[in-house]
Amino acid sequence: MKIAVMGGAGYIGSHTIIELYKAGHSVVVVDNLVNSSNESLRRVAELVGEPIPFVNADVRDEAALNKVFDENKFDACIHFAGLKAVGESVEKPLEYYENNMNATFVLLKVMRSHGCKNLIFSSSATVYGNPAMIPITEDCPKGQCTNPYGQTKSMLEEVLRDVQKADPEWNVVLLRYFNPIGAHPSGRIGEDPNGIPNNLMPYITQTAVGLRKELGVFGNDYDTPDGTGVRDYIHVCDLAAGHVAALQAIERKCGLAIYNLGTGHGYSVLDVVKAFEKANGIKIPYSIKPRRAGDIATCYCNPQKAFDELGWKAKYGIEEMCRDSWNWQKNNPKGYKG
Ligand code: NAD
Ligand code: UFG
Repeated sequence: MKIAVMGGAGYIGSHTIIELYKAGHSVVVVDNLVNSSNESLRRVAELVGEPIPFVNADVRDEAALNKVFDENKFDACIHFAGLKAVGESVEKPLEYYENNMNATFVLLKVMRSHGCKNLIFSSSATVYGNPAMIPITEDCPKGQCTNPYGQTKSMLEEVLRDVQKADPEWNVVLLRYFNPIGAHPSGRIGEDPNGIPNNLMPYITQTAVGLRKELGVFGNDYDTPDGTGVRDYIHVCDLAAGHVAALQAIERKCGLAIYNLGTGHGYSVLDVVKAFEKANGIKIPYSIKPRRAGDIATCYCNPQKAFDELGWKAKYGIEEMCRDSWNWQKNNPKGYKG
């Protein structure tokens, strides 16, 4: 298939392009590089052995997007483009709503006018809020999101649901990602956050490489086995492969389909610290800090539906996630910048 990849220069997009090429698909990437650099695509090209067609444009720029769709006949689109920093979204709600919502509106209009009605959308476990059940199945009701970023995902899921309902020619796959970590085993591409990382794994790897003094563990009084927050960490290459599997749902004209992409295992913050130390032989200094506002105790999924319907399941374990996160960080201490 020929796939339009919005936001393909980013962390998950760059890994997904590799899986798409491995499966025999081709892509055109659209990204405005607001949170990425085209160095990632240069390295993806190196890994797949051919150049990656790339258009430097904002998905909200309707004229630019029309041109891309005029020039290419796409079978489907994967939509990664969005701003994703939870804390920043609380400080800049308007920017987050404006970017994430409008980019999707423009994309849907352009796709419709070009007769491309197959979409895979990057959603998030955040839509479950404080989940009503653990492990979380796709039937779990959506919950209250505590930040504008999460709200955009939840609202966009509803927009996509309505669009598909109004016109059943659409096939829309909502992929609810759990916590992607890790990097391509080559160490050539990985997560390259701007400034001080918000997420656990980049903070650990930056501590390991000496950029940060110690990890702050946000709370050890949760109702979890060791008191620290429990999450479903998934290797980004497994997550990437989930998108290739999701194309099968599109091929069999799924209408609207929702899948959790996680491993089904929950690891606490201290479990991850220990796994990282064991996998890499590096000590991670940490201290216990107050809880972070908006955090929940436990979040992990039941990934059975994706296996039953798409034949997809995660292959990598926590050790490999820790190994590959470190392999990327140590080979690229300043990310793509050096
Ligand atoms: P990322 O920031 O690395 O990638 C997103 C890409 O979108 C970036 O390259 C950015 O430059 C681009 N972009 C943003 N707004 C754009 C616009 N208006 N026009 C063109 N390009 C634009 O993030 P990621 O971790 O790869 O996440 C990809 C998607 O998955 C996002 O939608 C994110 O919200 C979602 N998601 C991520 C996680 C996670 O933990 N990483 C979890 C759940 C969902
Ligand atoms: N944590 C720390 N110290 C840190 C960073 C995180 O103790 O420096 C803890 C958090 O309190 C939490 C766990 O590590 O218990 C994971 O935190 P992350 O920030 O890595 O991930 P979250 O589960 O909070 O959220 C992430 C993304 C969201 C996404 C969600 C589900 O940031 O956008 O996963 O996919 F919605």
